[in-house]
Amino acid sequence: MRPVARILLLGSGELGREFTIAAKRLGAYVIACDSYEKAPAMQVADDYEVLSMLDDEALAAVIEKHRPDHIVPEVEAIRTEVLLDFEDKGYSVVPSARATMLTMNRDRIRDVAANELGLVTSRFLYAETLEEMRAAVKTVGIPCVVKPVMSSSGKGQSIVTAEEAVDAAWDYAVEGMRGDRQRVIVEAFIAFDYEITLLTIRTRQGVLFCEPIGHRQELGDYRESWQPTPMSKTALAAAQDMARKVVDDLGGYGLFGVEFFVAGEQVIFSELSPRPHDTGMVTLISQNLTEFDLHARAILGLPIPHIHLNGASASAVLLADRHAEDFRIEGLAEALAPAPGVETDVRLFSKPVTRPNRRMGVALALAREGTADDARAAARAAVAKLSIVYAGEVQ
Ligand SMILES: Nc1ncnc2c1ncn2[C@@H]1O[C@H](COP(=O)(O)OP(=O)(O)O)[C@@H](O)[C@H]1O
Ligand SMILES: [Mg+2]
Repeated sequence: MRPVARILLLGSGELGREFTIAAKRLGAYVIACDSYEKAPAMQVADDYEVLSMLDDEALAAVIEKHRPDHIVPEVEAIRTEVLLDFEDKGYSVVPSARATMLTMNRDRIRDVAANELGLVTSRFLYAETLEEMRAAVKTVGIPCVVKPVMSSSGKGQSIVTAEEAVDAAWDYAVEGMRGDRQRVIVEAFIAFDYEITLLTIRTRQGVLFCEPIGHRQELGDYRESWQPTPMSKTALAAAQDMARKVVDDLGGYGLFGVEFFVAGEQVIFSELSPRPHDTGMVTLISQNLTEFDLHARAILGLPIPHIHLNGASASAVLLADRHAEDFRIEGLAEALAPAPGVETDVRLFSKPVTRPNRRMGVALALAREGTADDARAAARAAVAKLSIVYAGEVQ
């Protein structure tokens, strides 16, 4: 059989793995790329390539070799200029080369969102030197959040709560930045009531939304996410309106994870991923179509007749705490054991090595008749049953 489409997946983590499964179920052929062998998506893909996606020649060579129908980035750290070249040559880059380029730079997407589209954001300024940062902190005010313009997973990010902390925040940001631009964004700290990811799908038939996903972040990564998050009609409408504006501006087809802070009735745009979002892993149990199914359908131009929430759901992550190559994960049976009023499930990512705070799996819970709090409690209970046992350790 000829595949429905050939997809070159750039990044082969857990999100790429679920996307690969979703795309393959629809008959696609997936070539999974990453910088190391046996990455989660490579284990389930048709073919794989090991390369640095920041190396323009290596990236171009892989695209030329496979001539995919769609190039699907799964991570930010990609030489996006290469994607722009190939898009110009007629290749399909998901959702668009411009979207991948703007979103890998906090300042570029912020300029579009705040200045061109007029979305509500926190007050912000940029700085390229310590001097400039000191001035920016004075103008923006304390407390504020400092982030390198190129970074992810909270790397180099810190909250400045006192003037004395500015120098340390600068050093930390410079240490954590990726790429060659020494630049930070200084933004006002928002004392939000809660934060959400609004999964937004841009399709040929129009823009669709999932129920908002609430989440809790710690040390730059998400710990648990749940769906739905109660929001007033006005707040939800404001978030949807901003999400629609930004995805329409970025263009192309696919699923986006649009992040907002909510304080009272005020909805503040934060950032977005032009691809499935880690907090969206809750959709692996919460919806008739997961965020990965939705991304695949949007890319392949297939219909999405309706998105249905099965009930209140949650996800909770399993993190490693050290470097190790020899380890196993125990407690699967306990995590999946029946619990009253909830259904639970687990995804283990089969990453070859652990690192401190590396995400190794996720527990999922669905409380069909219950609340998001019930689902959160169940997901937390399930993940607590899982443990990473490192070689040489006595259980
Ligand atoms: N201006 C802010 N005010 C309050 N909290 C913030 C602010 N910016 C970021 N955060 C917190 O830090 C988390 C990560 O920041 P984010 O900008 O989304 O970076 P990343 O690209 O690493 O996800 C957010 O989800 C939020 O919890
Ligand atoms: Mg984020």
